[in-house]
Amino acid sequence: MRRVVFNQKGGVGKSSIAVNLAAISASRGIRTLVVDLDPQCNSTHYLLGDASNQPQTDAYGFFEQALSFQLKPRSASEFVHETPFEHLAILPSHPELGDLQSKLESKHKIYKLRDAIDQLADEYEAIYIDTPPAFNFFTLSALVAAERCLIPFDCDEFARQALYNLLNNVRETRADHNALLEVEGIVVNQYQPRASLPQKIVAGLEAEGLPVLTTRLSSSVKMKESHNEARPLIHMAPAHKLTQEFVQLFEELTAGH
Ligand SMILES: Nc1ncnc2c1ncn2[C@@H]1O[C@H](COP(=O)(O)OP(=O)(O)O)[C@@H](O)[C@H]1O
Ligand SMILES: [Mg+2]
Repeated sequence: MRRVVFNQKGGVGKSSIAVNLAAISASRGIRTLVVDLDPQCNSTHYLLGDASNQPQTDAYGFFEQALSFQLKPRSASEFVHETPFEHLAILPSHPELGDLQSKLESKHKIYKLRDAIDQLADEYEAIYIDTPPAFNFFTLSALVAAERCLIPFDCDEFARQALYNLLNNVRETRADHNALLEVEGIVVNQYQPRASLPQKIVAGLEAEGLPVLTTRLSSSVKMKESHNEARPLIHMAPAHKLTQEFVQLFEELTAGH
């Protein structure tokens, strides 16, 4: 299954959710790949720590190759790195990835990632794509390459208003480029069950028939610790409440597949 974690808003939990779900998947023996398309490289640092980024063997190298015709292009797996965690690999991002965007756009390269992921799907049973906080070439490439779209949501009123536009972008991508793409659900992150406003906002989404997933993720300082230590929650704090919520979310998503 190929999933993209997408929201045009930053700071909603895309990278945290992509990496932690991928780490749970890998911990169950499923060969899992994270694809980091955000030049902020948060998922890359989360999984590889400071040791990340050898030039050219990352998403930058991959997309740069896509810009020039080559008789013998490097295969997609040459851009993938092992992580310290068993069964978990990453196609890392690069801080200068954004510099390639206008060339990639003008040369219409939005199917290159899908082609690469088609190749990688033989090696990886689960693929999680992390995206930048924008609807740009890289997010569009990810939506074109994915089968499921997960939308992290941080219970903010502005984020609620932005959801309609976001869901329209997903529908439009589905209609124009990728009939396989389904919205898997809205993941409520940093939920405060005792505060009335988040409750009201989430109830409002449900009342409108939006696909809000049942599992809610709470807010915990463990998340920042986990980023700092470059160890996903399932390894750093397996019994913690937030980790267990991630496990429940993973099970909600994979039930029936
Ligand atoms: N459930 C959570 N509890 C506490 N902090 C969180 C949680 N989810 C995300 N964060 C923090 O919020 C910030 C933004 O999260 P991140 O996953 O980087 O979002 P995005 O990728 O959407 O920009 C990070 O500092 C992260 O540690
Ligand atoms: Mg991010």
